[in-house]
Amino acid sequence: MTEPEEDAEFVFGADARSARDGDGDSSADAAAEAGADAAVDGSESAVGPSPAFEPAAALRVQLDAIEAATVDARAARDAGTVPAVVRTLFDFAAPSFRQAHGSLEGFAATLLGPMYDRLVGADAIERGAAERDGDRFTQAVLARHPDGDRTYEFALARQTAGKYAGCWLTTSVDLLYDGESPAFRRTPTVTFGDTSVTCEVGDQLRAVLLAAEGHSPHNDVTQVANCGGNGLCGTCAVSCDGDVDEMGDRERRRLSLPPHEAASGLRLACQTHVQGDVTVGKHDGYWGQHVDGAVDAADRVDADEVVASDRPDQIVVTAAEYAGEYDYAADGPSGSATAGGDGR
Ligand code: FES
Repeated sequence: MTEPEEDAEFVFGADARSARDGDGDSSADAAAEAGADAAVDGSESAVGPSPAFEPAAALRVQLDAIEAATVDARAARDAGTVPAVVRTLFDFAAPSFRQAHGSLEGFAATLLGPMYDRLVGADAIERGAAERDGDRFTQAVLARHPDGDRTYEFALARQTAGKYAGCWLTTSVDLLYDGESPAFRRTPTVTFGDTSVTCEVGDQLRAVLLAAEGHSPHNDVTQVANCGGNGLCGTCAVSCDGDVDEMGDRERRRLSLPPHEAASGLRLACQTHVQGDVTVGKHDGYWGQHVDGAVDAADRVDADEVVASDRPDQIVVTAAEYAGEYDYAADGPSGSATAGGDGR
């Protein structure tokens, strides 16, 4: 199949809109005419349904088409045109779904209407939870649109007979939520040492860590002797590798005072808010400041990992060494060591 122009449209006959509002036969004729015109233009969908597609792939073709297109649904509706993306959605519509709308034109009239215009004209698409149950597949889809987001649910079914036997095709698209469904709210993961916990976007990092038992951002006595999260004592300093908010003035001031240094890269957990997944490390020292030999929890390598690794730079102690047999003498100062000596 040929690649369509990104925003290609299929224009129905001059009487198409009046036909849409009138009897079904005229509408069907207009749709058939449009289909013929589209074929002449070579403006077929780039990807069509196939039994080779898993349901997620069949849906992805449709969602990618929505994201790639720039559609002014109202203008298309008023002009009686069918954006190429609607054609793609039609291509992947189950026979029952198509028949419910009578034609591509009827299908377009629905998708360009107020219920679905923000889906077809979405700037971005986010995929939510998917569920497969035998020959049924559903996935929530968040359509980001300048006029407001909306959450839809696509339902696909594997066709069992006819031309599309074996293909996963859309049987319905339902408007679930006017806005971002709570199901789409992100739950970032905060990793601290060998523990990972989830939280809400915007949660205070110190509170998240304290809620995870045994993972205080404070060392030793400062677990009880601290400013209570007011950004004053500086003892909740941690390293953050991930998505957190920008540093504020209070935090910046405190981290510029000894023993902290402005350039340390540390954050005060009580002044830091989680924006996405983040890995937290805590240095030694009263304030958790950098001290010689300190290692971020994130940088510690699990003992099993070291044993299992096969890094070429790893120095391996040989069985011969354990047995007291050294070969260092060959590289050392003449006469400084002998086989079985001190090995300098
Ligand atoms: S708890 Fe004191 S600065 Fe964070």
